[in-house]
Amino acid sequence: MNSSEENITQLTTGLEPVEALKKLAEIFPGEIVFSTSFGWEDQVISHMIFANNIPIKVFTLETGRIFPETYYVWNRTMEMYSKTIYAYYPQHEPLEKMLNEKGPSSFYESVDNRKECCGIRKLEPLNRALAGNQIWITGIRAEQSVNRQDMHNVEWDEGHNLTKFHPIFSWSLEDVKAYIKQHNVPYNTLHDRGFPSIGCQPCTRAIREGEDFRAGRWWWEDQSKKECGLHELIIDNK
Ligand code: ADX
Ligand code: SF4
Repeated sequence: MNSSEENITQLTTGLEPVEALKKLAEIFPGEIVFSTSFGWEDQVISHMIFANNIPIKVFTLETGRIFPETYYVWNRTMEMYSKTIYAYYPQHEPLEKMLNEKGPSSFYESVDNRKECCGIRKLEPLNRALAGNQIWITGIRAEQSVNRQDMHNVEWDEGHNLTKFHPIFSWSLEDVKAYIKQHNVPYNTLHDRGFPSIGCQPCTRAIREGEDFRAGRWWWEDQSKKECGLHELIIDNK
């Protein structure tokens, strides 16, 4: 654990997620951001931030390939709380080059092509969204995958030079659903149709009963390759 991880762990240990978010926003004003993909975990955290007016900037990586249902919940969330959710888009030159050379579905052809697409559509915009910040909040939960069980609620992110904090890391899916119900939080209706984890439309499918939460993400690839790079650095480091 480096000193920053230690510091954030000390500041947040024993606090409920909302209190932890308030505390971090107070200590790192203007240097704390939350990334949302509008999945139900993220909707819980958006609710905590918006309903309590916590000064944390909320952003999304708009890959250009998200589901219509995701746009709907994005819009509904902005309306409901009267808050801005900042969109980060890919750079058009590399995107146009990739599509002109390989077509719109190259990600199905190889892991390298898939990583290229995630790199252009997610990772470069993420770097811009995180630049200059000290804390990155996410909706990751340990239960989501075997990889994630090895993670911690506070993690140093070497690549982005900041600390990640996952406020609902230890929550179960039942906890998430109960919170959404109790607080009347808008959520993506795809969750009711077998999608526990929602990413880009061409790369996400519903799962069958008994399948892993993330089985519907990049389902044509090996289990071991199924992180898009947003979070894999951390796993490699541990
Ligand atoms: S991913 O790496 O496989 O895409 P996942 O969908 O499990 O991640 O989401 C984990 C966390 O990553 C979310 O809670 C959110 O904080 C962040 N995240 C994932 N996709 C996006 C996105 N498109 N925009 C913003 N944040 C995202
Ligand atoms: Fe491209 Fe699929 Fe990655 Fe989205 S999830 S950026 S469509 S490869």
